[in-house]
Amino acid sequence: MPQRAKISIIGAGNVGATCAHWAAAKELGDIVLLDIPEKEGVAKGKMIDLGCCAPIDGFDGKLVGTADYKDIAGSDVVVITAGLPRKPGMSRDDLIETNVKIVKSVSEQIKQHAPDSIVIVVSNPLDAMVYTAWKATGFPTQRIMGQAGALDCARYRAFIAWELGVSVEDVQALLLGGHGDDMVPLPRLTSVHGIPVTDLLPAEKINACVERAKVGGGEIVKLMGTSAYYAPALGTIQMVEAIVKDKKRIIPSAVYCDGQFGVKGLFVGVPAMLGKDGVEKVVEFKLTAEEQKLFEESASHVSDLVNIVKKMFPELS
Ligand code: NAI
Ligand code: 2OP
Repeated sequence: MPQRAKISIIGAGNVGATCAHWAAAKELGDIVLLDIPEKEGVAKGKMIDLGCCAPIDGFDGKLVGTADYKDIAGSDVVVITAGLPRKPGMSRDDLIETNVKIVKSVSEQIKQHAPDSIVIVVSNPLDAMVYTAWKATGFPTQRIMGQAGALDCARYRAFIAWELGVSVEDVQALLLGGHGDDMVPLPRLTSVHGIPVTDLLPAEKINACVERAKVGGGEIVKLMGTSAYYAPALGTIQMVEAIVKDKKRIIPSAVYCDGQFGVKGLFVGVPAMLGKDGVEKVVEFKLTAEEQKLFEESASHVSDLVNIVKKMFPELS
C-alpha cells in the first residue's frame, strides 16, 4: 500500500497557513502546521477550519495544528515560513537579524525531530535563510532549498501574459539569481507557446515586465501593509509536489551551487530538478555575457548577506 506523504509547515501565519491550504486542496499528504506556543491555538484553529473544507472539496489526509515539534516526526518535507514579514518601506534584507535567530532555532528542532526530511525555506531574506537552515541542520545540500524562483518566475510570467492578453498557461520563462530586487528574469528564454517573446513585444514592454517582477513583492507590501502569500505559498507547494510525487520538475529554486554558472559554495536561484531525493540536479546552460554579469551581481549580493549572517552568528560559519 503506498503511504501518504507527510508535510510539516513551520509558521502558521499568512504564508504557512496558505501552504497548508494549497497542499490539502491538492491532496499531497498528511499536513502538520506548527507555530510557537503562544500561537498554538491559531495553528490548531486554522487546521480544524481547513479540515472542515475537506467534505466540500473532497480531500483526505490528516491535518494537525500544534506547537509541539514531536508532531513533525517522520516528515518527508518540512517548509519553514517562520519569521517576520516585511512592512512598507522595509527591504527583505532588513529582516536578517530577527529571522536568522528564528530560522536557526526552527532548524535545530527539525534536525532533532525530522532528521531525514527535505527542507524548503521560505522566510526572508530568503537566500541567507537557506544558508542558515543548512548550517543549523547540518543536512546534505541536496535536502536544503529555498523558494523564490517559483514565485518570481510566476510573477514575471503573469505580467507578460497580462501585457499580451494571452493565457498565462502559454507563457514559459526562466529567472535566475537571489530573491532580491536584482533577480535576473531572462527575456531571451521567455516564450509564448514556443514563440520568443522578443518577437511579440517591444523591448520596453518586456523590460517593464522584468522590472515589475523584480519589485513585485514590494508592490504588494505597499498595497497591503504586509507581504504577499497566495503566490509565495503556491510556489512553495509546487516544489513540495515535485518532491512528494518524484516529478523531476525543473523549478528555479535557491539551491547549493558547487561551481555551476560560475558560483561555488553558495545557495542561489538556478534551475533545479526536484524529485524524491530533493535537489537532484542543477540544470546548467550557457548564459550570454550580459546574463552572466547580472547573475554574478545578484549572487554577489547573496554572498554579502551570507557574510552578514556569519559575522552576526559566528557559530553559523
Ligand atoms: P506572518 O507574520 O503571517 O507569519 C509568520 C509566522 O511565523 C507567525 O505565525 C509567527 O508566530 C511564526 N513564528 C515566529 N517565530 C517562530 C518560531 N520560532 N517557530 C515557529 N513559528 C514562528 O508572516 P508571513 O507573511 O507568513 O511570512 C513569513 C515569512 O515568509 C517572512 O519572513 C516573509 O518575509 C517570508 N516570505 C517569503 C517569500 C518568498 O518568496 N521566499 C514570499 C512571502 C513571504
Ligand atoms: C515577496 O516577494 C516578500 O519575499 C516576499 O512577496
